[in-house]
Amino acid sequence: MNCTLHRLLLSSATLALIAFHVAASLSAYPVVLGANTGECSVPASENLVPVRREVYGNGRIIDITHRLTSDLPSYESMGSLGQFLWLAFSMKNGSLTNNSEMKLPAHTGTHVDAPGHVYDHYYEAGFDVDTLDLEVLNATNRSLWTRLHFASTKRAQLSPTSSFLKKANTMSGRNRCIPLLLLLSSIYALAAASLDAYPSVPGLDAGGCSVPTGEKNENLLLMRVFGNGRIIDITHRITPDLPAFDSEESLGQFLWLLLSMKNGSIANFSEIKLSAHTGTHVDAPGHVFDHYYDAGFDVDSLDLEILNGPALLVDVPKDKNLTAEVMESLHIPKGVRRVLFRTLNTDRRLMYKKEFDTSYVGFMRDGAKWLVENTDIKLVGIDYLSVAAYDDLIPSHLVFLESREIILVEGLKLEDVPAGVYTVHCLPLRLLGAEGSPIRCILIK
Ligand SMILES: *[C@@H]1O[C@H](CO)[C@@H](O)[C@H](O)[C@H]1NC(C)=O
Ligand SMILES: *[C@@H]1O[C@H](CO)[C@@H](O)[C@H](O)[C@H]1NC(C)=O
Ligand SMILES: *[C@@H]1O[C@H](CO)[C@@H](O)[C@H](O)[C@H]1NC(C)=O
Ligand SMILES: *[C@@H]1O[C@H](CO)[C@@H](O)[C@H](O)[C@H]1NC(C)=O
Ligand SMILES: *[C@@H]1O[C@H](CO)[C@@H](O)[C@H](O)[C@H]1NC(C)=O
Ligand SMILES: *[C@@H]1O[C@H](CO)[C@@H](O)[C@H](O)[C@H]1NC(C)=O
Ligand SMILES: *[C@@H]1O[C@H](CO)[C@@H](O)[C@H](O)[C@H]1NC(C)=O
Repeated sequence: MNCTLHRLLLSSATLALIAFHVAASLSAYPVVLGANTGECSVPASENLVPVRREVYGNGRIIDITHRLTSDLPSYESMGSLGQFLWLAFSMKNGSLTNNSEMKLPAHTGTHVDAPGHVYDHYYEAGFDVDTLDLEVLNATNRSLWTRLHFASTKRAQLSPTSSFLKKANTMSGRNRCIPLLLLLSSIYALAAASLDAYPSVPGLDAGGCSVPTGEKNENLLLMRVFGNGRIIDITHRITPDLPAFDSEESLGQFLWLLLSMKNGSIANFSEIKLSAHTGTHVDAPGHVFDHYYDAGFDVDSLDLEILNGPALLVDVPKDKNLTAEVMESLHIPKGVRRVLFRTLNTDRRLMYKKEFDTSYVGFMRDGAKWLVENTDIKLVGIDYLSVAAYDDLIPSHLVFLESREIILVEGLKLEDVPAGVYTVHCLPLRLLGAEGSPIRCILIK
């Protein structure tokens, strides 16, 4: 641990005494370095130094993702990544907010490979990154153990009747279709691997295991629950049909196959181009505040501790926008720091309608103000593209983001999840300089 970090951790008690500005930054942002030098004489506007960290929550959370910068190396290239972020809409040019757009190869920096990267039949059957098993990616002890075993058996080139497979068969109740999975591929090693990397396919374990090989299974693609129901994905899948803010057109194409095996490349290689506020996403304060944007309070400076921890999923009254009165009526106890608000937007399935709908439910200015002043909530989640109601779009954002205390997660997928207490895990991309980022959020029971 370097000494800057030490200072960061030790100083939190002293910091509580310091001015509102700094105290605020305790929450959504790590401590501001230099601000705790005793007299606190730095003018507020010069006090704005975002802290970039790899370690959060007193060392409990460690970020092992590389920050996306233009200097990142790119595979087999002499040059680096280069520009990946463009300010598509600027307040300087009359836009209500600044909105960046990102363009990245799918294999940039810290990334995951899906089997379609090098296997045609998997690519064509739809085994993309969205079908990967989140339970494995969370590296629970059990699956880590299984994977370690897999690695050693693969090295030994054991037959399908190996003790490893038998063990996998009995230890994991959810993978009841091992023989079928074996049929899906003549390559034994890969079939065994898919026990771990993909969720069990609903319908496949309903007795017969008779789904023809190669048939695209829609159920698999719709699967959003992992680890026997313990992990629930509350992120909307990114598809061309996702609605886009204030637009009659949906997102449209966001993925291009840059290099193709059909054209002689050794692997297929896609590029992604997205608005930073696409689908399920997070807003950084620079989205609506010039001085924060200019000071560098981007998505990479958000506190992962706020984005990860115990959370309440609540249903709000369906006949109103989120006013002070509504907020008060929810009686959210003090101490609750993360709340996901499920509104009429979920019932209306607005995230599944291509055309943007301005009548969505969101926070009115007084509701945002009430929440800021009367609760300990630092993570506000909502089920459409903006936490702020359309009529109070900018005022509500300003109230929420002014102190840099609160993180806004928008466009959550909250249908079919019982209200209650969960652990939420939300991870934005580390887009240096971006005022928003697509985010992956899951709930764990
Ligand atoms: C603003 O508009 C001008 C003229 O259309 C354009 O040249 C410039 O790139 C725009 N700037 C931003 C940040 O959008
Ligand atoms: C590569 O892309 C082509 C489309 O050009 C597709 O048909 C093929 O299945 C892909 N192969 C792999 C390995 O992803
Ligand atoms: C994810 O990993 C953590 C740490 O190993 C573990 O405590 C937690 O139970 C895991 N969650 C799931 C859903 O597997
Ligand atoms: C991890 O799994 C191994 C093997 O199943 C077990 O012996 C060990 O106690 C587990 N460790 C934890 C921390 O759960
Ligand atoms: C393959 O190359 C041809 C000719 O350069 C081009 O038109 C086509 O778009 C390429 N396809 C892919 C998938 O890269
Ligand atoms: C918007 O972008 C401009 C650059 O065009 C920047 O100077 C300004 O601070 C940004 N404003 C906000 C609110 O992010
Ligand atoms: C919420 O506010 C929007 C305007 O921002 C309005 O169109 C909509 O009808 C309101 N919804 C409810 C349930 O009152």
